[in-house]
Amino acid sequence: MRVLLLGASGRIGRRVATELLDRGHEVTGVSRSGTVEGVDDPSFVAVSGDATDPDAVARLATGHDAVASALGPGEDEDPAVLVELMDAVVEGMRRASVDRLVWTGGAGGLYVGPDTRLVETDEFPDEWEGLARSAIEAYEVLAEADDLEWTYLAPAAVIEPGERTGDYRTAEGELVADEEGDSYISMEDFAVALADVLESGEAVHTCLGTGY
Ligand SMILES: NC(=O)c1ccc[n+]([C@@H]2O[C@H](COP(=O)([O-])OP(=O)(O)OC[C@H]3O[C@@H](n4cnc5c(N)ncnc54)[C@H](OP(=O)(O)O)[C@@H]3O)[C@@H](O)[C@H]2O)c1
Repeated sequence: MRVLLLGASGRIGRRVATELLDRGHEVTGVSRSGTVEGVDDPSFVAVSGDATDPDAVARLATGHDAVASALGPGEDEDPAVLVELMDAVVEGMRRASVDRLVWTGGAGGLYVGPDTRLVETDEFPDEWEGLARSAIEAYEVLAEADDLEWTYLAPAAVIEPGERTGDYRTAEGELVADEEGDSYISMEDFAVALADVLESGEAVHTCLGTGY
């Protein structure tokens, strides 16, 4: 598969690039910097592009079978840019006639009870609330894009660099936690989940939580 990977230079993006390349896919990795450290493969090309610009997304997506996103706001950026990014990616893909999108989302919008999202719980850190709310708003844009074959793949509450075990669980719309109530996934196993969803073509028009 020829995959356009948006946010390829990020912490999650680099691991998604590695996972896809190890499976034999061709990957075009996009970031504003145009440089992706630690990914060196003949099937990988790093390019510079601004994913808030639908024309740029359309130009970059042309000729690819699918788009994967690990886009995220920079440290000093307003988290609301996530909505701008989603708008531009959806519109750019339409213009390029590329249908398949797997988007790395946020855990804050996942349900932990019948009517309660993680972001609404007392344990959710205040410092992440703005980002979580913007991620939910971006999801709402995606949910309207019936003409695209999208999957919104959300990490566990905690996602960190770690080991690739190849094991993980998913739950539709819900936070995945273990028996002790801990919600965790390594970035490597999140990349496995993303690549599995992309390859299977399943979970279309679905929000999936991931974890152990
Ligand atoms: N528990 C959770 O729910 C959880 C935890 C961690 C992360 N996440 C989500 O997962 C996503 C990825 O996280 P991360 O930690 O891997 O992020 P990161 O390390 O900050 O990487 C973000 C990537 O997006 C790129 N980017 C940002 N704006 C761009 C633009 N306008 N055009 C093109 N590329 C752009 C960055 O490269 P340039 O800056 O060079 O453009 C970088 O490659 C984020 O949406 C984050 O919110 C969720």
